[in-house]
Amino acid sequence: MFLSSLAFFARFVFQLAYAIKATQNKEISLNRNRRRGPRRISVVSMSAAMTDLKKSTVLITGAGGRTGHIAYKKLKERSDQFIGRGLVRTAESKQQIGGADDVFVGDIRDADSIAPAIHGVDALIILTSAVPRMKPGSDPSIGRPEIYFEDGAYPEQVDWIGQKNQIDAAKAAGVKQIVLVGSMGGTNPSHPLNSLGNGNILVWKRKAEQYLADSGIPYTIIRAGGLLDKEGGVRELLVGKDDELLQTETRTVPRADVAEVCIQALQFEEAKFKAFDLASKPEGAGARTKDFKALFSQITSRF
Ligand SMILES: NC(=O)c1ccc[n+]([C@@H]2O[C@H](COP(=O)([O-])OP(=O)(O)OC[C@H]3O[C@@H](n4cnc5c(N)ncnc54)[C@H](OP(=O)(O)O)[C@@H]3O)[C@@H](O)[C@H]2O)c1
Repeated sequence: MFLSSLAFFARFVFQLAYAIKATQNKEISLNRNRRRGPRRISVVSMSAAMTDLKKSTVLITGAGGRTGHIAYKKLKERSDQFIGRGLVRTAESKQQIGGADDVFVGDIRDADSIAPAIHGVDALIILTSAVPRMKPGSDPSIGRPEIYFEDGAYPEQVDWIGQKNQIDAAKAAGVKQIVLVGSMGGTNPSHPLNSLGNGNILVWKRKAEQYLADSGIPYTIIRAGGLLDKEGGVRELLVGKDDELLQTETRTVPRADVAEVCIQALQFEEAKFKAFDLASKPEGAGARTKDFKALFSQITSRF
């Protein structure tokens, strides 16, 4: 107890010193040509440092992916609340999303390579996933396309080992909350998605979800329905459990809404220690979801 209080205090002092130093440096460079004399910290810069301390530092992994990129952009747009970071697999992905200094390059299958991105983070949003590829020459318009995973990038390596590496790294770094995006369908081991490329993708995703739920870190597991590249923030969102939504007509959700739910989950206690399915009504069919506290309050399932 004493040691953890001490660690918390040391971390707080370190962050305060870092924030003050950053604003101090900024002020010094601004004033360099205007005055000489002893360095001093103004009330304004001190309060800026305190404001930075109140912000939550959040890392999005898979930030070069389709949902991950939207979530990363949303974080950056809310710079009054969050200090956003991204993790991408390659330097090319980093360039594609703007190449900012807060985008780290690392491979989630290699625990050491992701540690710098996770260091100093308050919350982690996991949006990495094994990516199925279509065999060259395969034509989906004339039958089922042939799908494969690249060597070393099967769901076992990415959705299980890779997610586990992130959870372990987050735990070691004292991360206070993890949001993990998974998929609906995981209650059925014979789900057709499991046969894609012999990857058993839902099985490995589910294993990582269980690992997170058992980690002791406050978590939110979002099991999304079929993802749509449609406008976000215009639909009524639906939450469910145990794949019950798969028996209905509402089984899809825009990527932009998934990204929004990830970020909203960081802001409400009602989202913590919860796992749920997420879908949406068709646009225009319901009242658009604005009250996320109420949405999370509907969820009763811990796994
Ligand atoms: N597609 C659907 O209909 C559907 C339905 C339900 C749930 N979901 C889930 O929703 C989430 C978001 O899906 P999405 O389609 O938006 O994702 P996506 O575009 O496929 O992005 C996945 C990201 O993970 C990254 N990644 C893969 N292996 C990595 C590694 N070893 N190290 C670091 N990063 C790695 C990929 O980077 P590279 O591109 O560089 O490899 C990519 O940016 C995923 O978990 C997905 O399984 C999808």
